Amino acid sequence: MQDFLPIQGYDHIEFYVGNAKQAAHFYEKVFGFTPVAKSGLETGVRDRASYVLRQGNITFVFTCALTPDHEIARHQALHGDGVKCIALAVADVEAALREVKARGATIVQPARVFEDDAGALKTGVIRYAGDTVFKFVERRNYRGVFAPGYKAIELRGTVRPVGLSAVDHMVTNVHLGEMNYWVGWFQQVMGFSQLCHFSDQDISTEYSALMSKVMENGSGKIKLPINEPAEGRKKSQIDEYLDWYNGPGIQHIAMSTKDICASVRELRERDIDFLRVPDTYYEDLRQRVGDIGEDYDELQELGILVDRDDDGYLLQIFTQPMQDRPTLFFEVIERHGSRGFGLGNFKALFVSLEREQAARGNL
Ligand code: FE2
Repeated sequence: MQDFLPIQGYDHIEFYVGNAKQAAHFYEKVFGFTPVAKSGLETGVRDRASYVLRQGNITFVFTCALTPDHEIARHQALHGDGVKCIALAVADVEAALREVKARGATIVQPARVFEDDAGALKTGVIRYAGDTVFKFVERRNYRGVFAPGYKAIELRGTVRPVGLSAVDHMVTNVHLGEMNYWVGWFQQVMGFSQLCHFSDQDISTEYSALMSKVMENGSGKIKLPINEPAEGRKKSQIDEYLDWYNGPGIQHIAMSTKDICASVRELRERDIDFLRVPDTYYEDLRQRVGDIGEDYDELQELGILVDRDDDGYLLQIFTQPMQDRPTLFFEVIERHGSRGFGLGNFKALFVSLEREQAARGNL
């Protein structure tokens, strides 16, 4: 079957934040991103400021409002800092919008051309869960640093990347009962297919459970798991997210690395807090996972999780929430054959997550 929505990859991910300048500084100095471009008062943009940062193939944009009664300010007041826009690179924005609109997408911004001396950039935006949107971006006629209205940032000091190379997957949290709606939406509107499914039997602890289905586009480049809470004895981490984000949104972004031990060691040195993994997790890990290329003692020291499936294994670790609200966090992942998402780790992880949740008074 022909893919009616060929996606070349992620173009960028845009966050709406309270203070874009400080967010950009944090992602540069702590996460090792390189500042690329900015827009704001100096570039003639008077209602918002944006900073573009890049590491490997990952491009993040941090945007804040400069005026009080602004859609970005309202978004940030309601949701806190978080992901507003998942921008997908396509060869033809008009075609992408035509296909998804015919299949039921809600258009937020029809195809629009932005121009400057460096050419023309075309975009179109559709609605996704909650206030999150997908943006289609067509760059073939644009040679500028990022987009019209942006200028290159002159580097100050040294950038020290931590080895993050690509977006592996991005996870959305939705309310109970909404997961299957979005599964159907991705199939119908975006032409994605379902890669795998975790039930509350797979992912549960004494207190809480979640269900998850993983959607994948035709080329396999875009993987978007969708979580919904399942009924548990207490509030699940998904419920906690939905309460504090005030609705559905992006729960975590997984970024791949070729050397997770080096990446995590560096991030720890820069004071990134990761989820604490109970020492008991490592007791039977060797038996569960078998021979791997990494040193088990080093993995335990760094708090890195391992999971194996039929295709191979993966190493992964999760940060604490990146803002004061317990909402968005990051995952760092290194794959060795496995195309999964760490099912075997979910339970161990939940025990750990709930300890953090209880400490916040939210369990
Ligand atoms: Fe993940």
